[in-house]
Amino acid sequence: MRVNSPWSQNILFFESLSSTNDLLLEMAESGAPEGTIVIADEQTRGRGQFHRPWTSPSGMGLWMSLLLRLPIENEIIKGLSQLGPVSLSHALLELGISPSLLKIKAPNDLLLRGKKVAGILVETRRGISSFAVIGLGINIHQQAKDFPSELCEKATSLTLAGIDHIDREQLIPILISCLYKHYQELRSDPLALHDAWNAFEVGLD
Ligand code: BTN
Repeated sequence: MRVNSPWSQNILFFESLSSTNDLLLEMAESGAPEGTIVIADEQTRGRGQFHRPWTSPSGMGLWMSLLLRLPIENEIIKGLSQLGPVSLSHALLELGISPSLLKIKAPNDLLLRGKKVAGILVETRRGISSFAVIGLGINIHQQAKDFPSELCEKATSLTLAGIDHIDREQLIPILISCLYKHYQELRSDPLALHDAWNAFEVGLD
C-alpha cells in the first residue's frame, strides 16, 4: 500500500484491538509523535460518541485513529470535529462517489444515501502537551444482517449503498493524504476548512 503523505511513516496495523482510540490515547500519553496512525482489522470494544458501542467486525470496515499534537484552544475544537468528515468526504469523492449522495450530519457523522456510513470520535487531552485522537469508523462491506437490529434502519455501508468498487486498501492512502491536507488548513487557515465543510450538504439529521 502506497501512502503519499508525511504521516505514512507511523502507521501501525493490528489484527484485533479493543479500540484503536484507546491504544492511541495510551501511546500519546507515552510520547508517540504527531501523525501516528493505528488501524485494526477488528475492534472488540469499539467506542462511539456518548459512550455508545461501535460495532467493528473483522474485515468489514476501516477502524482507524490518528494522533494530532496541537494547542487545543477553544477556536480549534470546532475545526477538529470538522476535520474528519471533510477529509473523509473528499476521499470518497476522489474514489468516485457523487457529492449528491453524501451529507455531513453535524457534528461529525457522514451519511451516504441518507444513512450513516461513518462516524468520527474526537478525544482531546489538554495540558502542557495537549493532543487529540481522531477516531474514524467507516462501514465498507457490511450487509444489513451485520448491524445490530436497532441500527438496521439508520446505518449503511458502502456495499449496501451500491458502491462495491472501494476497499480498505484503496481508502487508507487517500484518506490519510486528505486528513494531512485539511489538517494543514486547520492549522494555517481554519476558515478554509470551515468553507470546505460548508461546501457539503450539512444537516442535523
Ligand atoms: C460515532 O459515530 O459515534 C463515532 C464512531 C467512531 C468509531 C471509530 S472506529 C475507530 C475509532 N476507535 C473507536 O473505538 N472508535 C473510533
